[in-house]
Amino acid sequence: MITVVGAGRVGTSAALQIAMRELGDITLLDIIEGLPQGEALDLNHACAILDLDVDVRGTNDYKDIEGSDVVVVTAGIVRKADMTRLDLLHKNSEIIRSVAKGIREHAPKAKVLVVTNPLDVMTYVMWKATGFESRRVMGFSGLLDMGRFRYLIREKLGVSYKSIRSMVIGEHGDSMVLLPRLTFIGASPLSSFMDESVINERVERTRKAGAEVIKLKGWSAHHAPGAGIAQMVEALVRDTKEVIPTSAYLDGHYGVKDVYTVVPCVLGAGGVEKIVELQLNDAEKELFMKSVSVIREAISQVKW
Ligand code: APR
Repeated sequence: MITVVGAGRVGTSAALQIAMRELGDITLLDIIEGLPQGEALDLNHACAILDLDVDVRGTNDYKDIEGSDVVVVTAGIVRKADMTRLDLLHKNSEIIRSVAKGIREHAPKAKVLVVTNPLDVMTYVMWKATGFESRRVMGFSGLLDMGRFRYLIREKLGVSYKSIRSMVIGEHGDSMVLLPRLTFIGASPLSSFMDESVINERVERTRKAGAEVIKLKGWSAHHAPGAGIAQMVEALVRDTKEVIPTSAYLDGHYGVKDVYTVVPCVLGAGGVEKIVELQLNDAEKELFMKSVSVIREAISQVKW
């Protein structure tokens, strides 16, 4: 069973895309009464149309998450115009702690995929608050940022997504580190297809893609997060051993300790089964370290 905590836009989009991959039955949990039940009913109707033999259940009670293999956490508030980043950090930390308590008590063997922003900090809070081994607590977002970059590459080059391989590391935020040097079209480096100035422009647009979505449609992305979450859940449930950019706990990897940030990870039934250490050049290392220090600073603001 897969549980999705938070039956808002991202949670329901993730639930639909998980259902479409038939990874198991789904429990949707939210604090608002009626909301997860109503969304579950709607999703069951979608499954009936699509011939997906998946049961979706809505609940407000953590007892119903018992037996979950994976718990996806999208619960939280979305930053409003009058809120600072710090206000958001404090409010969502409280929410993550309350969700962690429910998971610890009712799904102590689950792997936890955190989606709530600020992502890397909330994943760290979840890890601390559950007390789980770090390999069982991880954060989403790498696939989202990488997907946005791949979209902009395909838009320019017109080659299939299947032939675009890339990677992203660091914070899910302004300091994210895209890696054009380690981006390949087929087996050739991106730089043999695009001028440096075009690559830099695409990197900058990727960094601002989330804001671009909000500006146009009025609220934040949910289709793309839903797609990426389902891909990660599939790797965990089906034990695919796929290398996915994941916010993982670094314990000396990349020369960094005691922080969660995005790095390539092998995902499987054990959670984060391996952290892949890329051979970064000096410039990439510097950007990564700066990004890590942004996350560290934010973690230091959390009221425990
Ligand atoms: N327990 C369970 N659910 C909660 C809790 C809680 N303590 N607090 C809030 N929620 C629920 C809300 O009731 C709401 O239904 O979380 C849901 C959030 O949904 P939306 O407001 O639609 O937000 P969404 O766009 O889905 O984003 C959720 O994902 O990508 C991130 O930045 C995004 O942090 C945000 C999160």
